[in-house]
Amino acid sequence: MFRVVPALALAAVMLLSAGQITFAQTAPAQIVKERQDAMEKNWTEYFRDISRTVKTDSPDLALIATKSAQASEHLKKFAQLFPPGTGRDVVPKTRAKPEVWTQRAEFDAAMKALIDATIALGAAAKSGSVEKVKAEWPSVAKACGGCHGGPKKAGGKFRFEEE
Ligand code: HEC
Repeated sequence: MFRVVPALALAAVMLLSAGQITFAQTAPAQIVKERQDAMEKNWTEYFRDISRTVKTDSPDLALIATKSAQASEHLKKFAQLFPPGTGRDVVPKTRAKPEVWTQRAEFDAAMKALIDATIALGAAAKSGSVEKVKAEWPSVAKACGGCHGGPKKAGGKFRFEEE
């Protein structure tokens, strides 16, 4: 017993510290990549399609309902991809401003505003009213603007402008 326990304890410590080293060196960059991909996907797979159809005279309400539901689920996960220690001081590639962490409550509120607006858009589409859908859409676009401008390069409250 005397020998086995310290050996196991030592093995556990070694595994733990190996894990920590890996985490410290690679995880923040991976998290940044993941959230940039997630944001990109958010646009290319959900909101771009919605924005195209919503501007027409007869928007595809079924598509808007489906994509809004998918987008709001996707955004809930996205909100978790901003742990402390993934700012520009650690990962130069990120465009997330320090305000994400120094004004966290506002950042979370901006995220919630987008999720709520997206859910409201989906509900409007489900109700079958083109009028309601058209009325809800600007609040989705406005919610994106709570963090950054529309054009890909644009900066904003929580995103650095692309250099
Ligand atoms: C709660 C804040 C917030 C909201 C709301 C938000 N974004 Fe972002 N977005 C960010 C941040 C922060 C980044 C930069 C992430 C990074 O570089 O780590 C970003 C990056 C992006 C990118 C670039 C991804 C890349 O490769 O760098 C796109 C595209 C994007 N957002 C689209 C959107 C669209 C479309 C909306 C609205 C439907 C939206 N965003 C709403 C915070 C937000």
